[in-house]
Amino acid sequence: MTLSSSWRSPSNIALIKYWGKHGVQLPQNPSLSFTLEACHTAMKLSVIPEKGDQDLTFLYQGSPRPSFVPKIKVFLELMEEHMPWLRHASVEIDSSNTFPHGAGIASSASAMSALALCLTDIDDQINARQSTIDGAWWLRVSQYARLGSGSACRSVHPVMALWGQLTRVTKSSDEYAVPWKEEIAPFFHDYRDTILVVSAAEKSVSSTAGHALMRDLPYASTRYDEARANTWKLINALRSSDQLDEFIRICESEALQLHALMMMGRSPFMLIAPGTVSIIHEVWRYRKETNIPVCFTLDAGPNVHLLYPAQYADDVRRWVDEVLIRYCANGFFIEDRVGNGPERIL
Ligand code: DP6
Repeated sequence: MTLSSSWRSPSNIALIKYWGKHGVQLPQNPSLSFTLEACHTAMKLSVIPEKGDQDLTFLYQGSPRPSFVPKIKVFLELMEEHMPWLRHASVEIDSSNTFPHGAGIASSASAMSALALCLTDIDDQINARQSTIDGAWWLRVSQYARLGSGSACRSVHPVMALWGQLTRVTKSSDEYAVPWKEEIAPFFHDYRDTILVVSAAEKSVSSTAGHALMRDLPYASTRYDEARANTWKLINALRSSDQLDEFIRICESEALQLHALMMMGRSPFMLIAPGTVSIIHEVWRYRKETNIPVCFTLDAGPNVHLLYPAQYADDVRRWVDEVLIRYCANGFFIEDRVGNGPERIL
């Protein structure tokens, strides 16, 4: 008997960065992210539970992609504890992204959250559980997604997600992300994110290796305290639309700190490129000249995410077309926005 499940799951962009972990993707500090919409993974998982030996086939955009298999294998092994049927199952994953692989856009968050969703769904089918998709179900999926890739646990919630324990937020946890939509002003629900692809080359240092380098960084504990303090400040700034100056200050500081951490280690590395720095200066100049509250954030790579309120979408598009496009590899950028989280595909 073959069981199957199909889900679409989005990428997310962290405003407060997760950088440094212990155990199995347990974060050293809380992180807070916008869930995206245009950048997502669509996945179909087909499982024969009693196949005998475990067996994995992974197709990406319809063709085998052996380079993705090791990370998925590690994830499936971790999942055996929660889903023992995986030990004897034949698993086929058919996955595709809306954004090109190699565009420098992190795919692990959308892919691992999609896989966690499909696995949970199939686990419910195997155990003849009534798939009540309630709050607890989403937290369970988030916890599983974390085992695949830390940032993936935030992709399962609409609009915003908070991952990591904060003493004054009782529902917060290091094990999974919690939804953070109701806690922010509706003004942010349709915030925009234009992703400027500065380089489409493969990263020289993976996020996983980057996290590991935090272990012997002399400034690590200061960074974790700072991230906690910034999380609180951002939580407060997100409560209304009239604290955009504070929102911008925290977002940009977090982005620059992330890359500063990479440069401060004992084995320093740099993922930003000359184009990244040029765009940052353009953002500062444009904001000063126009008063349009656009700011930037970065993930672990050279690409720049421009964050701005929906009402400025036309202005920002004009500015990208006239000025910023020259810094984009092959003129490539993606107009994304805050989204509503994963969806089952029928
Ligand atoms: C800079 O979640 O990709 O994007 O847990 O090892 O899979 P692993 O790392 P990953 O790290 C993401 C780092 C980041 C910041 C963030 O998304 O919070």
